[in-house]
Amino acid sequence: MNLSEFQWNNWVLEPAGRGAEQIAELFWWLIGGASLIWLVVMALTIYAIRVQPGKHPGQAGVLIIGGGVILPVIILAGYLIYGLGLLPALLAPEPANALKISVQGEQWWWRISYELEDGNSFELANELRLPVERPIHFELKSSDVIHSFWIPALGGKVDMIPGRVTELLLEPVKTGLFRGMCAEYCGDSHAFMNFYVQVEEWEQFHAWQLRQQQPAEDPKSETSKTGSKLFLSNGCGACHNIRGTMADGTLGPDLTHLGSRLSIGAALLPNTEENLIKWISDTERVKPGVHMPAFNMLSNDELKALATYLRGLK
Ligand code: CUA
Repeated sequence: MNLSEFQWNNWVLEPAGRGAEQIAELFWWLIGGASLIWLVVMALTIYAIRVQPGKHPGQAGVLIIGGGVILPVIILAGYLIYGLGLLPALLAPEPANALKISVQGEQWWWRISYELEDGNSFELANELRLPVERPIHFELKSSDVIHSFWIPALGGKVDMIPGRVTELLLEPVKTGLFRGMCAEYCGDSHAFMNFYVQVEEWEQFHAWQLRQQQPAEDPKSETSKTGSKLFLSNGCGACHNIRGTMADGTLGPDLTHLGSRLSIGAALLPNTEENLIKWISDTERVKPGVHMPAFNMLSNDELKALATYLRGLK
């Protein structure tokens, strides 16, 4: 699957989730109300200056009390009641059929783990797949600084705070590809801390999650066998986990099915062989401040073998 084949959406006003629909509705009511008030104020101003200057002496007090106090209180109270009325649906208690996903913010990527109804779980990074029309209960954490988890097209944003677990309930109502982001400044590469969300029909989602639970397939071609040896001999396994191999690090992203992901570097680059080579050999240039060192001592052939191996982890 290739990222360029997709149109992705991260536009708040094209909602594809229950929460986002309500947020967009509130937004349009606020814009509508504000525009109406602006037009009335402009009309009154033109009337007072151009049409009938000096026609109503001594009535400024009425205007200030009426237009400056009473009217705003009525309008803002109306909006407050309407806005509070939306909250119960946004903060609804976790439905029994909710899918549980835990997401941990890291500098600057997302550690994602799915907890399935059958008790199984699996981990991946920087990419979510969600079934459509199914509530999703997110548990949000942070290992370092405050991040903020936001998928604009699906719902509101929630901070990820070190030492605490925050929660978010989303329910996608449309299939498609969406983009999520970190919405709280968190250091050098905050702007490069993004992720993709694919919302699919249940059957597709189910097949995907079964695949993700499997350990990595053994490399088949000679090049990818060389790549897998290089991965272990260069110590990549100290930070990265590839389930089913000796690599069992937990500091960096789980790479067990890296080949099946759309992007690398937290939605920074499309997942291609060329970009993997660029990433491995020059991490700091691609993503300032990244904790992974550049492996620029590897030859071109070695980099190519590594990339072939990683791309093969479907
Ligand atoms: Cu994480 Cu900004």
